[in-house]
Amino acid sequence: MQVFKTIKSLREQVQAWKSQGLTVGFVPTMGNLHAGHLSLIHVAREQCDRVIASIFVNPLQFGPNEDFDSYPRTFDADQSKLKAQMVDGLFFPSVDEMYPSGEIQTTVHVPAELTGLLEGASRPGHFDGVTTVVNKLFNMVQPDVAVFGQKDFQQFAVISKMVTDLAMPVKLIRAPIGRDEDGLALSSRNQYLTQEQRAIAPKLYTTLLDIELAIKSGNRDFTALTMAASKQLLLHGFDFVDYIHVVNPITLMASKACDGSFVILAVAKLGNTRLLDNILLSKLD
Ligand code: PAJ
Repeated sequence: MQVFKTIKSLREQVQAWKSQGLTVGFVPTMGNLHAGHLSLIHVAREQCDRVIASIFVNPLQFGPNEDFDSYPRTFDADQSKLKAQMVDGLFFPSVDEMYPSGEIQTTVHVPAELTGLLEGASRPGHFDGVTTVVNKLFNMVQPDVAVFGQKDFQQFAVISKMVTDLAMPVKLIRAPIGRDEDGLALSSRNQYLTQEQRAIAPKLYTTLLDIELAIKSGNRDFTALTMAASKQLLLHGFDFVDYIHVVNPITLMASKACDGSFVILAVAKLGNTRLLDNILLSKLD
């Protein structure tokens, strides 16, 4: 596996592959890799001749009171995991390489209809940071296919909108959520949990499963379902529920009873750790 620290060296290799007619799949990450990330590599590998992963903890997508400085950076372990997955290239740029003009720079903004609600309401500016860095990474890697996780459901919707609106020549794939045996969605932030909090954490998923079951049984009173679920989470020991909503998977607007597809999105806190999860219900009869 080659490690590229500069845009120039990355581009030279990608161009060499493309001139041989090889397709390139791309998996952007912020590192501290777990099995969820590695499942994305697997999807990219199935689709493309060559796979590039990136590791870049993107300062632009963290708020001033968020965990940018303490975000776990585990390059050596990550590198070994990617090697074991037969990744062809790892792009590992510095902040200066990614943002040479410092704080004054062009950014990409997807309209507030998609970025101002849910995660965007809790984390102002977050999605501008995500779309700006993903746009830059796409320009650097020029992938044929890019794979993102369903875990960050809104992130995928926002990036899809950017790719469509700006006619970016990349095919996006949304890969399923990797979970621990007890159902907890894998996340780099799970390691912040104490033993006691870790025991409570899987209840986020089981609570979403309860809502899914109710919807599948014909219940369309989304407000009552999500309010009851929110109370349930607090009873289980969660400290705060940021939100639980049933929304349309494309517009992210509140679902209507007549909709055929739904996504149930939730974010709840244990101490200072925010846990995200979601369940997508599509093609209901
Ligand atoms: P990061 O949180 O490192 O996640 C990288 C990719 O892994 C994202 O597409 C995310 O949705 C996916 N992922 C995380 N947990 C997962 C799980 N349990 N199962 C499946 N996929 C999972 O998301 C980001 O980084 C950044 O915002 C990034 C897109 C790299 C831009 O900086």
